[in-house]
Amino acid sequence: MKPEYRRKNKIMEQKLLLSQLATDTLKGLSSNRKYLLSKYFYDDQGSRIFQDIMNMPEYYLTDCEHEIFSFQKEEITGAICDDFLGFNLVELGSGDGMKTKILLKHLVEKSIHFQYMPVDISAKANNELVESLKSEIPDLQVEAKIGDYFRKLKDLNGHASIPKIILFLGSNIGNFSDSETEAFLHQLSAYTNSGDKVLIGFDLKKSPKTIMDAYNDPHGHTRRFNLNHLVRLNRELDSDFNVGQFEQHTVYDPKTGDVKSYLVSKSEQKVHIGALEQDFHFRQWETIFMERSRKFDLPTIEKLAEKS
Ligand code: AVJ
Repeated sequence: MKPEYRRKNKIMEQKLLLSQLATDTLKGLSSNRKYLLSKYFYDDQGSRIFQDIMNMPEYYLTDCEHEIFSFQKEEITGAICDDFLGFNLVELGSGDGMKTKILLKHLVEKSIHFQYMPVDISAKANNELVESLKSEIPDLQVEAKIGDYFRKLKDLNGHASIPKIILFLGSNIGNFSDSETEAFLHQLSAYTNSGDKVLIGFDLKKSPKTIMDAYNDPHGHTRRFNLNHLVRLNRELDSDFNVGQFEQHTVYDPKTGDVKSYLVSKSEQKVHIGALEQDFHFRQWETIFMERSRKFDLPTIEKLAEKS
C-alpha cells in the first residue's frame, strides 16, 4: 500500500474509533444508570496507569499469573501443541505480554513452529510489546494486530487452515457481565474450528479483603485509572469534566463475585460534551458505573464451558 493511502486509512480508522467512543459515551451517559465502557480505559496514559496497577504488590493477579506460567509452562505447552505442524498463537488483550513471554520463550526454545499474534486496543502498548519481543526473543515470529478483540476475532478465522490457540489472560474475562461472558464464549466457538484451542485466565473468589486491597489500592493508582477515563473524554470528545468533582468507589460482593467500580459525583453538576453537542446532568452522589472485575468459582467456570 502506498504511504499516502496508509496515512489516509489511519486517519479514517481514528475517526471511526472516535465516533465509536462518542456513540458509546452518549449511550452510557444518557442511560438511567450512567455507565462508561471499560475498554476505553486503555488510551496511552490509561495503559501506563494500568502498568502501575499491575506493578503494585496489592494487585496479586500479576504475580499469580506469572507463577502459573513459570511453573506450568511445560504442561501448557503439552496441552496446546498436540501434533500440530504449526499454529497461530492469538492473544486477545495482550497488553505488555509479561506472562506470555515466559510461554513464548519456552516454545521458541523447543523449536516449536508457530506465529504469535497479539491483539490489543492500545496501539502504543502493542508497539512496545513488539519492540521488546524483537530484542528479548529475536527468533519469534510476530504479527501484531491493533483493535477491539471482538472485531479482530472475526477477521482471524480467515486463517482457517492454520490451527489457532487463543489466549485470553489476565482475568480480562472478568470485565464482562453474565450475558457478555456467554456472548463472548459463543463468539469464540463461532470463530474457531475443530482442533483450535482456548486458554482463559479466570481469577477465583478469595478473601474479600485481598480483593479490596487490590481494587481499592492505597497508592491511588485505581483512582487515577478511573479518572483518566474522564480526562480522555475531555481530550477526545471536547468535554469539560472537572475530575476533582468525582470520587472513585469500589465494592465487592462475595456472593456474586462482582467487583464494581464507580465514579461518584460529589456535587450536582452539568458537564458539556462538545463532540455530542450536549450537556449531561449529574445529581449529587449520582454514580457512573465504570468497570466490573468478576471473580469466579470452579462450578461457575464449568457451567460456562458446558454452555458454550
Ligand atoms: C485488565 C480487566 C483484568 O479487572 O483486574 C485493575 C483491570 N481495573 N484494576 C481487572 C483493573 C482495576 C483488570 N483487567
